Amino acid sequence: MIRFDPEQKSFHLRNSFVSYIFHAGATGRLHHLYWGAPLETFSPGRWALDPLREDLKPVRPRISEEVHPQEYSLWGCGDRRPGACSLRLADGSAAAELLYRGHEILEQPVYPPGLPAVRQDHELGAAEAVKVLLEDPRGDLRVELYYTLYEKSPVLLRWNRIINGSEGPILLRDPASAAPDLPPDAYDLLHLSGAWGRERHVRREPLSSGSFSIGSRSGASGHQFAPFLALCSPEAGENQGCLYAATLHYSGCFSASAAPDSFGGCRLSIGIGGLEAALSPGESFDTPAASLVWTAEGFNGMSRAFHSFLREGVLPREFRFRPRPVTINSWEAMYFDMDQEKILNLAAQGAAVGAELFVLDDGWFSRRVDDRSSLGDWWANPDRFPRGLGALAEKVRERGLAFGLWVEPEMISPDSELSRKHPDWALAIPGREAVTVRNQLVLDLSRREVRDYLFDCLRRVLEESAAVYLKWDMNRTMSEAGSPPLGRERQGETMHRYMLGLYELLGRVRRAFPQVMLEGCAGGGGRMDFGMAAFCPRFWASDQTDGVERLAIQYGSSYLFPPETLGAHVSAVPNHQVGRMVPGRSRALTALAFSYGYELNPAELSPEERSLFREFSQRHKEIRRGVLQGEFFRLEGGPSEGGRREGPAGSPRETAWIIRVAAGRELLLFCFRPFCRPNLLPSYLKLSAGLPEGPALYRETRTGELYSSSELRYKGVRVDRVKGDYQAFFRRFIREDEGT
Ligand code: DGJ
Repeated sequence: MIRFDPEQKSFHLRNSFVSYIFHAGATGRLHHLYWGAPLETFSPGRWALDPLREDLKPVRPRISEEVHPQEYSLWGCGDRRPGACSLRLADGSAAAELLYRGHEILEQPVYPPGLPAVRQDHELGAAEAVKVLLEDPRGDLRVELYYTLYEKSPVLLRWNRIINGSEGPILLRDPASAAPDLPPDAYDLLHLSGAWGRERHVRREPLSSGSFSIGSRSGASGHQFAPFLALCSPEAGENQGCLYAATLHYSGCFSASAAPDSFGGCRLSIGIGGLEAALSPGESFDTPAASLVWTAEGFNGMSRAFHSFLREGVLPREFRFRPRPVTINSWEAMYFDMDQEKILNLAAQGAAVGAELFVLDDGWFSRRVDDRSSLGDWWANPDRFPRGLGALAEKVRERGLAFGLWVEPEMISPDSELSRKHPDWALAIPGREAVTVRNQLVLDLSRREVRDYLFDCLRRVLEESAAVYLKWDMNRTMSEAGSPPLGRERQGETMHRYMLGLYELLGRVRRAFPQVMLEGCAGGGGRMDFGMAAFCPRFWASDQTDGVERLAIQYGSSYLFPPETLGAHVSAVPNHQVGRMVPGRSRALTALAFSYGYELNPAELSPEERSLFREFSQRHKEIRRGVLQGEFFRLEGGPSEGGRREGPAGSPRETAWIIRVAAGRELLLFCFRPFCRPNLLPSYLKLSAGLPEGPALYRETRTGELYSSSELRYKGVRVDRVKGDYQAFFRRFIREDEGT
């Protein structure tokens, strides 16, 4: 519920999870007052640092704005902390301040046009939304702050519209979607960082003096950092402790920062990056949306809030309750070495190990026999598939699998018919040599004609093949991101206009083919964010398919994404990325709780391994409804460097997660112990999360043994010290005492 107190000019956004409070102080500045557990009552008069008395209103404390926690403050005019955006106003100056001018309680939430946020048919319960109007006293700038809080979620959705109210042009750089000042406290920073093949490893470090910032300038949210930043109490862990978290619904450049102030507080800011927008008089800029979470239930509390928000409000609704098919993907099985016979053999072999969907990866189109050509020429390679894509797909279906296809629509190979016909369709800066990465350039998706061409290609291949699945890849980021048709003034908007174009194209494909499942991929997990999640119910989380390396990637990815959205394929050994020999059972267990599949050729396996994987496909099919509807919890002691973190006495630290199905009627426990150490006793894995409150009895399905929930919670499940690396196990517990 949003309550506005006209006397105190305070806004209280509240539901059963959270209260978020700010008010217009005596100067008219919007001061952030509280973000935390839901409050029944409050009084800004008791909290605010400036008195609300009318007689003090004319006294404008010019410098002391810095003592106030601000809600959305710009640099200058008494606040020298990093501003929520940076500006060059028409007169060349950079300082501005935003004062409260009014507000509107909205009947319906309003989202930034053209950008992904929350779907119209969300199931987050009643939404309360408010627009707060701020204005610079000189009239240079107006800003509308949008807030939406939903009945069933702790997530507060934020975005802003920034309007040039002056007579001349304004240059706007990187406006944040949210930038509240958090109260003085000790904070740890939490972020998800990495690189290709090591995406989204959990990083935690104390916030000390000096600003901390992460971001991307590469035109994609990127492999290096997820567009996410959290500040938690130093005592916080998976299940306890307060934290403030922010993530962006945007897939391009971003910036997230934590800037400590002089009084122990901190400005947490997240928003678009790499943007320099030229606003002419009256023109406005809409920021992407950001999702903000406060919780006192640690990292699991945060991820459960994000998971349910994605499921009920962001991911395409068609797939909410649709089990993800067991997939066999052709990439690591054959790379570019494909023809009809090889593909049909792989499909048949895949079906024999239980796969339900065959995804034909890179190498099927035009003259693409390696990565040196043909991106942009989206028709089947006539030499490899003389009877066309439709006939090939039909033959795959005859082998009992659905058909899916890989594409990389945003790219163009200089050696392609498209490039010969439209050499000017790639992003470019005239006079500068275009740097190719993997022999490819990026198409200028800000251009309508480029998007129309791509949509036609995609429509044709989807219709011809009747594919039900499209793996949408993007294997290079941007470097010389220029778009000559935009003109000189607007070059700084190129990457953002590209993103708007990409979302428009993705939306068109979704509307035309709502039953086709899109898989988001960018050289693995290089563009996994809440922006792409609005179109993609599944992501290829990483090109790293090793059963041990994947633990850290999936562990970190689960901070934001629910398990059914994370593609996890069992691949061959020695692993193609690291050469490691993880046994098949452990590889399958690493993948089992996610969107399960294969990235290998079953024909090259031993008969024992084939039957093992058939069994695991079956196991996944048995648990996947539970995965889809259940709640995912990480147990304490997650991996940092590929599972190498040590516990007491140098014992190997288990990595474990648990899925609570149907409010605890069933528990699915996964445990991994990648590295063996000598001279240790068995350990006990405590189920520190996932159990229902109160007493309960569970039967473990493998042994038939009965456990009380208190034994599981406080003593734990015994983990024997088996010799050998890469140990893993899965236990299923069914509640026995329901209704007793
Ligand atoms: C990168 C992806 O992550 C891989 O799975 C594969 O699709 C290749 N691109 C194909 O070029």
